[in-house]
Amino acid sequence: MAGGNDWNPDDYDDHHEFVHEHGQSVVDLLDPQPGERVLDVGCGTGHLTAEIADSGAEVVGIDTSAEMVTQARDAYPNLTFEEADVRTYTADRPFDAVFSNAALHWIPGGDHDAVLSTVADVLTDDGRFVAEFGGTGNVAAITDALIAELDARGYAVDHPWYFPSIGEYAPRVEAHGFELRFSRLFDRPTPLDGGEDGLRNWLGMFGDEFFADVDDEERGAILAAVEDRLRPELFDGDTWVADYRRLRLVAVR
Ligand code: BEZ
Repeated sequence: MAGGNDWNPDDYDDHHEFVHEHGQSVVDLLDPQPGERVLDVGCGTGHLTAEIADSGAEVVGIDTSAEMVTQARDAYPNLTFEEADVRTYTADRPFDAVFSNAALHWIPGGDHDAVLSTVADVLTDDGRFVAEFGGTGNVAAITDALIAELDARGYAVDHPWYFPSIGEYAPRVEAHGFELRFSRLFDRPTPLDGGEDGLRNWLGMFGDEFFADVDDEERGAILAAVEDRLRPELFDGDTWVADYRRLRLVAVR
């Protein structure tokens, strides 16, 4: 994970497990083989890293959050996790595959050439890059409502995430010497844990950068107003359902 968010690994595991549960089929797309070396970029608390390791592959998980890496090491002491940033990461030995789920949107768009350079550099000649992250329009209802509410109260905020389209990202991948074998942008409406509190929990977990200049009292008022704006669209009476859109790709060197 990257960005200016303050990560809480327990909260992440207890209430936001959809991140790795819904990531399951990205591991199927990776199709890891026994003996392969795989780099898991933005491994978080390590659940998908462990899933990849179950196939018999040798996996290294990297994450910029020290807290996440500590939690991953505690949960999976036999696996290798490093606190590292993919933009500057170097490998002692090449990898057969680079994998990433729900992490790359935390890296600003301007830095994705550094990301793709690393991915190309650490792979073997015929290595593959399998990734899923937020694509264009991801959580747009939520961010539009939040930014409108912040704006109405005089706060100017930049959108902290990078959600490209296929048309924008494919040429960037190809410019780094990859052949793009598969890419897909699709909706994945995602139920949020916590019933009535699901949306504010989600913003509490992931939305720190929006609230950087807001005090706790006003934060509560903003969250309530954002819930009011979004209830007709995203609350089904029991559960908040976030408007996730995924960009998935497989590229080969
Ligand atoms: C996502 O997985 O799409 C996501 C998660 C947290 C913040 C923004 C996007």
